[in-house]
Amino acid sequence: MSDDLKEFESDFATLAKLAVQQSEEDVRLLLGRLVRKYRQRHPELAEQLNLSLKSIQTRSGSGALRRESLSEQAPGAGVPLDRDSRLELLKEFDDRGGMSVPLLPSGLLRQVESIIQERQARETLLARGLAPTRSAILVGPPGLGKTMSARWIASRLGKPLWVLDLTTVMSSMLGKTGANLRAALDYAKRHSAILLLDEIDSIAKRRSDESDIGELKRLVTVILQEVDHWPDTGLLLAATNHPELIDPALWRRFDAELRFSAPDTELTVQAVRRFLGPDTEALGQWIDTIATSLKGRSLSDVERAVTTLRRGHALRHAPDEELVSAMVGADLGMKSKVERLTLAVEMAKAGKHTHQEISRLTGVARDTIRKHAGPSPRRGRGMK
Ligand SMILES: Nc1ncnc2c1ncn2[C@@H]1O[C@H](COP(=O)(O)OP(=O)(O)OP(=O)(O)O)[C@@H](O)[C@H]1O
Ligand SMILES: [Mg+2]
Repeated sequence: MSDDLKEFESDFATLAKLAVQQSEEDVRLLLGRLVRKYRQRHPELAEQLNLSLKSIQTRSGSGALRRESLSEQAPGAGVPLDRDSRLELLKEFDDRGGMSVPLLPSGLLRQVESIIQERQARETLLARGLAPTRSAILVGPPGLGKTMSARWIASRLGKPLWVLDLTTVMSSMLGKTGANLRAALDYAKRHSAILLLDEIDSIAKRRSDESDIGELKRLVTVILQEVDHWPDTGLLLAATNHPELIDPALWRRFDAELRFSAPDTELTVQAVRRFLGPDTEALGQWIDTIATSLKGRSLSDVERAVTTLRRGHALRHAPDEELVSAMVGADLGMKSKVERLTLAVEMAKAGKHTHQEISRLTGVARDTIRKHAGPSPRRGRGMK
């Protein structure tokens, strides 16, 4: 009986927790499981639980257990709208059909994966009195995969990602913003959504205007409360490029902090390979050159540069070397003389191109390259 008692205790505690969170959908799922579990050993208890389960199902009018999502409803049904702009405050990304894993430094990828795993093993955690990570803030410069990682998390958890763009919310008249924000957050919460508050700093940015301060404070309070009370059946994510603008009180509330930083060379090489896609073979010999030239740039910049190159290659605008040269050239316009020399020397040391080719690509004189990198390899291009 003592084992039974332990199980009762744990199930009872879980049920109480879900009831307090008012996550009816999960109460239903749990009741269904408990009915099956106790049917043999405790038929009377199972029957009582079954009656409660049926009454929930009748009340909510859904005959079957079903996870709701925006896309399963009539288009736009009940999605909160900003009255002025009529823009949907919540946008949906549905990647449940599958998407590629974001390219991230290994430590960051582990953090992302553990958020997913905790959610998948939620009940194991709950049984031990632990909750999975309920909220996380994604911080870092543009184009490094913050939004993409949020989409990845949602896709792996079999849910769409809902995005609340706070610049849209803020663009509506401030007086109504609090109500708009609360409506959207409530809606997402009721649906146990994975919600991304994008550009969460846009609230803080408006603080400079003195007359808005009272209202903005109220907005921050609304968000603070939501972060605190977000159900652990959903997930609240926030993204920002400006961590310095975030109210420390808000910052502290997030369970996890995911920091995105500029990719290292290895990650840039991987990105170039991925973005070359079906042209990886045809343009393969330029991968290191492209990656070296785009070192330190965001992955969305890398994607754009590689896509431009692929277009030129597909339409045979020019020989590949010239296309790569144009790509590097466009990038060089943004580089200082020293950076160009560094690039030329790195390329020379990689030994895949002759000094003549490197000189054409980077505009650095061959003599200068030789002085810094030693003699040119005999055979350049095509060396693997
Ligand atoms: N880590 C990554 N792995 C693969 N592709 C990436 C990555 N980061 C960016 N990209 C590419 O760049 C695009 C834009 O990235 P994303 O929107 O995720 O950036 P972000 O960090 O959210 O930027 P912002 O701060 O401007 O919102 C992605 O759709 C993807 O094509
Ligand atoms: Mg983004």
